[in-house]
Amino acid sequence: MAKRILFTGGSGKAGKHVVPWLGANGYEVHNLDLVPLESPGVTNLTVDVTDSGQVFNALSMHRDFSDLETGRGVIPYDAVIHFAAIPRILIKPDNETFRVNTMGTYNVIEAAAKLGIRKIIIASSETTYGICFAEGHKDAHQFPLEEDYDVDPMDSYGLSKVVNEKTARAFAERFGIDVYALRIGNVIEPHEYDKFPAFLADPESRKRNAWNYIDARDLGQICHLCVEKDGLGFQVFNAANDTPTADVPATELARRYFPDVPFTRELEEGEGLYSNRKIREVLGFKEEHNWRNYVKT
Ligand SMILES: NC(=O)c1ccc[n+]([C@@H]2O[C@H](COP(=O)([O-])OP(=O)(O)OC[C@H]3O[C@@H](n4cnc5c(N)ncnc54)[C@H](O)[C@@H]3O)[C@@H](O)[C@H]2O)c1
Repeated sequence: MAKRILFTGGSGKAGKHVVPWLGANGYEVHNLDLVPLESPGVTNLTVDVTDSGQVFNALSMHRDFSDLETGRGVIPYDAVIHFAAIPRILIKPDNETFRVNTMGTYNVIEAAAKLGIRKIIIASSETTYGICFAEGHKDAHQFPLEEDYDVDPMDSYGLSKVVNEKTARAFAERFGIDVYALRIGNVIEPHEYDKFPAFLADPESRKRNAWNYIDARDLGQICHLCVEKDGLGFQVFNAANDTPTADVPATELARRYFPDVPFTRELEEGEGLYSNRKIREVLGFKEEHNWRNYVKT
């Protein structure tokens, strides 16, 4: 039987690519969101993830009329992937961004853990590193940006994602389950490669992202790898493509824009300052959508 995935926030920018990708790779996906996703094979339920009662119900009820046919009650989910959130600062007031993101994540992880689901994947963010939404220029403590970094954002969105990682760690430890937090880079949809010539012409415009990006379809692959990899407990993974969004090497970008930031190790050939080494080495990620396939340089 196909694995059943409960996905939150599947109707958004990232989810609308990740959900079909998972469907095409053999999963049944049920989407919880404030608005439905029209995608073949995907079922939807309108849920506000900041309401714990709604989340507990959504995880413990039928997903579709066809589920009535077995007569054997609710079929449990194999994994939960939680993307629903306010995706940056300056959309809602700061406290609302913090509330929706932290309470939504608490509710989803708590319900999944208490209902016996043993694999939970949550969307954390590049902004945990503190550079993206910093007040003015902020130096990193060190390069490359990797998962063991002392994350210290000063904005409500980045802070909400740091809190979510702590929530994930607490539940993973208490329930002995796998909760993987993806520090997702700047999501690029297939039609957005037309922005890259401007990125290349003005490298400083990508400084706050440390020149990272994640193709939305490659993010689908990363979610798939997370669902299939068991037994790692709590984990954080940078979710980014291999190379920087620039036509100069990462070391040169660091020299120009972050001259005082030390390196903890030498970069691999072509590697970015926002390293994806851990997802390559631990999960076996192999990017399929390098920006150079889509952009003339
Ligand atoms: N887009 C990026 O570059 C980026 C980068 C890093 C991390 N992320 C994270 O990835 C995830 C997806 O981001 P996105 O760009 O697709 O965002 P998005 O805003 O396009 O999608 C988020 C979805 O969550 C839903 N949602 C919001 N509040 C909800 C609630 N209370 N209950 C139920 N659903 C709710 C929205 O309706 C929307 O469909 C988010 O967690 C975001 O913080 C995104």
